[in-house]
Amino acid sequence: MKVAYIQMEPRLLEVHKNLSRAERFIKDAAREGAKLIVLPELFDTGYNFESREEVEGIAQQIPDGDTTEFLVEQAREHEIFIVAGTAEKDEMGKLYNSAVIAGPLGSGYIGKYRKIHLFYREKLFFEPGNLGFHVFNIGMAKVGVMICFDWFFPEAMRTLALKGADIIAHPSNLVMPYAPRAMPIRALENRVFSITANRVGEERGLRFIGKSTIASPRAEVLAMGSEEGEEVGIVEINVEEARNKRINELNDIFKDRRPGFYFV
Ligand code: ACM
Repeated sequence: MKVAYIQMEPRLLEVHKNLSRAERFIKDAAREGAKLIVLPELFDTGYNFESREEVEGIAQQIPDGDTTEFLVEQAREHEIFIVAGTAEKDEMGKLYNSAVIAGPLGSGYIGKYRKIHLFYREKLFFEPGNLGFHVFNIGMAKVGVMICFDWFFPEAMRTLALKGADIIAHPSNLVMPYAPRAMPIRALENRVFSITANRVGEERGLRFIGKSTIASPRAEVLAMGSEEGEEVGIVEINVEEARNKRINELNDIFKDRRPGFYFV
């Protein structure tokens, strides 16, 4: 199965421009055979908001909004699955830093995730996620979704892996340098694949680090983006590798866990 990240530079508050930009990259990735494509966090809105009002002006309902509709259309047209970050406004007007998962079957809308660990000034605009960590079965793989700073909390990826995820889709807007080094280890300790789709560029003085990463259950870096370029990264993976949690004939890293001794 081929999987891909799209590393792009969204333009702040220019939703329709960002959708067209994403459309080009999705087409490229699909043409090369990618079946699961991950876009960055807040790919349609940009990131470095000044005020809550600014977010309110562009956040959309999920699934009843243009961005979800766009993702569904793309998934259908190219017969692919897409995970992408976006700003969500619920029926009560609450704002979430969310991700949508869309696919080619049925209504096309599969589900959403609301970022649980908000980073820095996100706390001024968004509510912390309240839907838990979910694993979505897309047939060829089970996909767990988390967003950017969630990686800093090993419990996030662990929860998704324990719930059966083979692949972690990780839309991101990374500004600290650590995740490209840490994610292969997260993938190793959970024996899963991870796809971090990061953005590039600068917004109001905040620089994003690029280096989108696809990591294997053996901590291999299968693909890594540059620090500044808009790029698509595609690799072929064997999902079965994520289903074997044994590292030798006597150790199964899930069965060997001792939760009774862990502090929660
Ligand atoms: C981040 O969570 N966007 C750093």
